[in-house]
Amino acid sequence: MYGCMKLDAGFYCVEAKADFIPQPIEVLLLSCGSRICSAHQGGGELPLNTLDNNGVFRALAIIGFCYTTKLVLTHGWGLIQAARVYLFEPLFGRKRDWVREYGRWAVITGATDGIGKEYAIQLAGKGMNIVLISRSLDKLNKVSREITTDFGVQTKVIVADFQKDLSIYADIVKGLANVEVGLLVNNVGVFPPYAMHLTEMDPQSIWQHVTVNVGAATMMTRLVLPQMMERKKGGIINISSAASFCPSPLMCVYSATKMYINYFSEAIRDDYSKYGITVQCLTPYYIATNMTSYSDRIGKAAITVPTSRQYVRSALQSFGIAHTTTGYFAHSLQYAGSQLMPTQFYKEIVHKYQLQLRHDDLKSEPIVNLLRFNLTRNYC
Ligand SMILES: NC(=O)c1ccc[n+]([C@@H]2O[C@H](COP(=O)([O-])OP(=O)(O)OC[C@H]3O[C@@H](n4cnc5c(N)ncnc54)[C@H](OP(=O)(O)O)[C@@H]3O)[C@@H](O)[C@H]2O)c1
Repeated sequence: MYGCMKLDAGFYCVEAKADFIPQPIEVLLLSCGSRICSAHQGGGELPLNTLDNNGVFRALAIIGFCYTTKLVLTHGWGLIQAARVYLFEPLFGRKRDWVREYGRWAVITGATDGIGKEYAIQLAGKGMNIVLISRSLDKLNKVSREITTDFGVQTKVIVADFQKDLSIYADIVKGLANVEVGLLVNNVGVFPPYAMHLTEMDPQSIWQHVTVNVGAATMMTRLVLPQMMERKKGGIINISSAASFCPSPLMCVYSATKMYINYFSEAIRDDYSKYGITVQCLTPYYIATNMTSYSDRIGKAAITVPTSRQYVRSALQSFGIAHTTTGYFAHSLQYAGSQLMPTQFYKEIVHKYQLQLRHDDLKSEPIVNLLRFNLTRNYC
C-alpha cells in the first residue's frame, strides 16, 4: 500500500506492508523506523532502521497536521453555527411557522416553573397549543390559565410525578390521546440541594435523579416518536446541562444523568432524522430559576446567568439550526473557553467552583437541615 503526503521538505512516498493499520498510525510507525524514499527530491531509498531526527520531525509534523485539521474543522463548524444562531437569525432570520413545521401541539415536562414554564409561554406565543406536565395540579392550572388568556391557544394539563413507577406513563398516554404532538420538550429535571458527595446523598434523592433526569426523557420520547414518524415531522428538545461536559465531582449523579441525555439525544437524532424529526440537545450553564436560587452566585441574573425568559428566547432561535448547543451566547463563550483547556484542568476548575458553592451553601444552611442531611458531612 502506498500513500503520498506533502511535508515541508517535499513529497515522500511511504511504503507499508500491513493494510489493516489505520494510515496515520502506519505513517507514524514507518517514519520512525521503516523505509522512506524521497520521491520529490529524486533521492534513492533512505533506510531508517533506527530512529533518526528526520523521522521524528516528520512524525510530529503529521501528528500536528492531523490535530490542527481536527481543531480547525471542529471549531470552525462551531463558529459557523454560532454566527448563524446568535447573529444571523436574530438579525435576518425569517419568521417561522412552528405549527406548520412541527405540528399543532407542544408537550412540555416540568412546565410549571423556570425553563419549562418559559418554553410553554414562548411556544404558545408562536401559536402552538400546549400540554403541560408536572406534579402540582394547582400550579398547572395557574400556568394554563395564564397561557390561554395571553395567547388564546388551547392547553391540556397532565398531573404526573416522574419519580413514581411506570404506571404514570399509562396516564400520560391517556392524556395525550388525539393530541398531535409536534414538539416534545424534555425539560423536567432535579438537581442536588447542594454540591455533595455520593455518600452524602440520601437514597431517595439518588433514585429521583435517575427516574426523573434519565427515565422521563427516555420514556416520553418513546411515547411520542411513533406518531411523529407517521407524520414525518416533529421535534424533540432535550434539556441537558453544561454539567455533562466533564465528570463533575460533588455533582456526580447529576452530571452523569445529563451525559446520558447527550448520548441519548445524539443516538436518536441519528436513528430518526430520516423521518423528518429534529432532535436538539441543550447544554446550558447556570440559569436563574428555582433550581439555582439556593445560591447568590448562580441564582441571580447576570451576564453569564440569564433569566429563563432570556435563555428560552435564545435557545428557540437555535432550534433546527444547532443540534447540540448551550443555547445562549454567553454560555457558548464559556464552552469555547473550556474547550481550549486540557480536560483535567477544566475538571479541576469545576471542582473548585463546586467546592466554593458548597462552602457558601453550608454556611447559609440552617443547622437543623445540616443535621437532617448528614451528620458526618466533611467541610472541604
Ligand atoms: N437552572 C439551571 O441553572 C439549569 C442549568 C442547566 C440545566 N438545567 C436543566 O433545565 C431543566 C429545568 O430546570 P429549571 O431550572 O427550570 O428547574 P425548576 O425551576 O426547578 O423547575 C422544575 C420543574 O419540574 C417540575 N418537576 C420537578 N420534579 C418533578 C417530578 N418528579 N415530576 C414532575 N414534574 C417535576 C416542577 O414542577 P412541580 O414542582 O409542580 O412538579 C417544575 O415545573 C432541568 O432538566 C435542569 O436540569 C437547569
